[in-house]
Amino acid sequence: MPDKTLNVVTICGSLRKGSYNRIVMNLLPGFAPAGMTITEAPPFAEFPLYNADVQDSFGFPAAVQKLADAIRAADGVIFVSPEYNFSIPGGLKNAIDWVSRTSNQPFVGKPVALQSAAGGILGGGRMQYDLRRCMIFLDALTLNKPEIFIGNCSQRIDHKTGQIKDEQTVGFIKQQLAAFAKFIERHGARRVDGAS
Ligand SMILES: Cc1cc2nc3c(=O)[nH]c(=O)nc-3n(C[C@H](O)[C@H](O)[C@H](O)COP(=O)(O)O)c2cc1C
Repeated sequence: MPDKTLNVVTICGSLRKGSYNRIVMNLLPGFAPAGMTITEAPPFAEFPLYNADVQDSFGFPAAVQKLADAIRAADGVIFVSPEYNFSIPGGLKNAIDWVSRTSNQPFVGKPVALQSAAGGILGGGRMQYDLRRCMIFLDALTLNKPEIFIGNCSQRIDHKTGQIKDEQTVGFIKQQLAAFAKFIERHGARRVDGAS
């Protein structure tokens, strides 16, 4: 068990109310190891499309600052996202683009873990490799293994009960969260509290 509670925030890449990724994200607090709390980061649904002219004329929207501050204050970030057209959903990429332009860029040195649920058999693997690439550019510390790819997600996740039906998937997620706690402990979060 870590010396202090690890404060991890989650970001869901799907805006859909009945999202399978959101179901997985909502279950994570119950799968977390002792000493780790998991809460959802502030939403990005209302972010405008990134435009440097908007940033130059009006500064950063309050919602962007809020998400950036939450990432800065967290010990780690977990993305739970579908794959859209073999890549990162546009809304999520737009959110990353916005927060990446704030001062004291929030992903620098930040432990990050990736999870995806998708209809395809590869479970969002291609999205994860693109997201991993973004995180490299932003100098995040992305956990390598275990990887979580939930393929054929409608078969494994019950949208009526909000539960994962497949025990093996639950086991993999718990393993990843335990590995993420150790990863955060080992590499230490570059924790910067306060407004940017
Ligand atoms: C625009 C769009 C693109 C998609 N592209 C892919 C894809 O590349 N690979 C895949 O496995 N599923 C793809 N899907 C299907 C999604 O995996 C599926 O709709 C999934 O349930 C979305 O995640 P959510 O339930 O969390 O919203 C796509 C869906 C949409 C709406």
